[in-house]
Amino acid sequence: MQYSGRGWLGWVAMPYSTKIARMSDKRVIIAIDGPAGAGKSTLAKRVAEKLGYLYINTGAIYRAVALWALRLGVDLSDMHRLEQLAKEARIELTTGEGRVLLNGEDVTEAIREARIAEAASKVSAVPGVRRALLALQRGMAEKNSVVMEGRDIGTVVFPEAQVKIFLDAEPAERARRRALELQETGRAPDEQTVASDLKSRDQRDRQRSEAPLVQAADAEFVDTTGMSLEEVEEILLRLVRARTSNGRAAAH
Ligand code: DC
Repeated sequence: MQYSGRGWLGWVAMPYSTKIARMSDKRVIIAIDGPAGAGKSTLAKRVAEKLGYLYINTGAIYRAVALWALRLGVDLSDMHRLEQLAKEARIELTTGEGRVLLNGEDVTEAIREARIAEAASKVSAVPGVRRALLALQRGMAEKNSVVMEGRDIGTVVFPEAQVKIFLDAEPAERARRRALELQETGRAPDEQTVASDLKSRDQRDRQRSEAPLVQAADAEFVDTTGMSLEEVEEILLRLVRARTSNGRAAAH
């Protein structure tokens, strides 16, 4: 199945509150937010597989816009041009393999570079960019139960999500995990550089004025420092069971 930004234009025309009221009987939204390297992607993917939900990595959407901006040589302080790009970008996420398409081109690997992460953090601080990408993210969960991960899913994208989790870990551990991840994809990162990159990105993501990274008041905080993937997964599945009817939307 594919999701295409173009296909959602009709959806956007309907007021958001109306859509949610109609859909709330069936769908379950699990929102996972937190800083880089907290384990969001790995865990969100595993939890989605266990529950048979769609996994949606919203960071990939911001990364795709950032990649396009860099390729076109757009100045990352040009807010107007960045907003325009975000509106025009055709971004598709495929299920299964989890490929990311930008204007029809597979950019799954290209958006994983460190310079793209940094650029995505800058691009995502532009209010017009966030506005342009909001409907796209909401549309991805229109027909399906989802595990969606990012920075503002529980606060802005789906404040009515049935399950909200804020994943975190100590900075040194997050940097270690990110360095390992990069090694696995054939890169040779320097742990010190990875740590300082993560730090500056997190600061920017937490301090921006529009939809900053912050724990939603009703989110569960999970510190994954020193925990195995299996342990965290078990905690998350327990939270899902507690807040839904065994992974299904609870009756209202
Ligand atoms: O999850 P990630 O590290 O791939 O995200 C890259 C950047 O995109 C991150 O530094 C901030 C931004 N982002 C965001 O602002 N909101 C989201 N929901 C997801 C990512």
